[in-house]
Amino acid sequence: MITVNHIAQLRSFCDDARRAGRRVGLVPTMGYFHEGHRSLMRAARVENDVVVVSIFVNPTQFSPSEDLDAYPRDLERDDAIARDEGVDVLFTPDTAEMYPRPPLTTVHVGDLTAELCGASRPYHFDGVATVVTKLFAITGPCRAYFGRKDYQQLAVVRRLVADLDLPVDVVGCPLVREPDGVAMSSRNAYLSAEERAAATALVRALDRAAEAVRAGERDAATLRGLVVAEVDGEPLATLDYAEVVDAGDLSRIDHLEDSTDVLVALAARIGKTRLIDNATIEVRGAQVRVDLGVRS
Ligand code: PAF
Repeated sequence: MITVNHIAQLRSFCDDARRAGRRVGLVPTMGYFHEGHRSLMRAARVENDVVVVSIFVNPTQFSPSEDLDAYPRDLERDDAIARDEGVDVLFTPDTAEMYPRPPLTTVHVGDLTAELCGASRPYHFDGVATVVTKLFAITGPCRAYFGRKDYQQLAVVRRLVADLDLPVDVVGCPLVREPDGVAMSSRNAYLSAEERAAATALVRALDRAAEAVRAGERDAATLRGLVVAEVDGEPLATLDYAEVVDAGDLSRIDHLEDSTDVLVALAARIGKTRLIDNATIEVRGAQVRVDLGVRS
């Protein structure tokens, strides 16, 4: 594995690889790897000749009141994990490399970013969309890998790729959970033992909604109410949002019609730490398929 810090180095490496007919897969990350990141690297390793993993804690997707400075970092450990997963190139630019001047150009993905996390983090998805577009422009990947835990982010990236005709396949990979069901996140590192136990409220809330759909409930407000009640029942949790939306365009729905694919998404603060989670539910007549991801 080689580590590169400069855009020009990575661009020339990827240009040479493509010229030699090799397929380049990109896994964009902010580092502090966990099993979810490993699963993205493994998927990329299977499907590409060259695997590039970027680690860049992107300041433009944090608002001034958020955790940019505190965001967990451990480059030495990440380096060892990336080697272990057979990564070819670790791209670790600093902020001056990625943003040598205040950018006048940003990528804004309209309606998809207005609700859910976008409602409480108004600039977040512009920051994500812009840095992901830059990483695509630098690397020129055939495929890029994103986890479904950040479902809205995945939808935003898919849409920007479609709208801008970018020649990259966006691959959505399963959400990965801890054995007790908590969705893996670098931010879990902030949680005290008590908060870590309280964080199970998020997956319990999703389970409750999923069970209700399996039992025949189709009213979106009722399902949302179950999620809210479960999170509100946890004293250390404060709900940011819980929504039941169309899994394709993220628009709100009233009723789970037959043949609908639905996203149940929520964000909550456990102490000071904001966590997100989601489940997708496919309704096909009496058949209901719930995707809560995989447990490690
Ligand atoms: O999901 C993340 O880690 C980040 O939002 C991403 C996609 C690397 C952009 O900074």
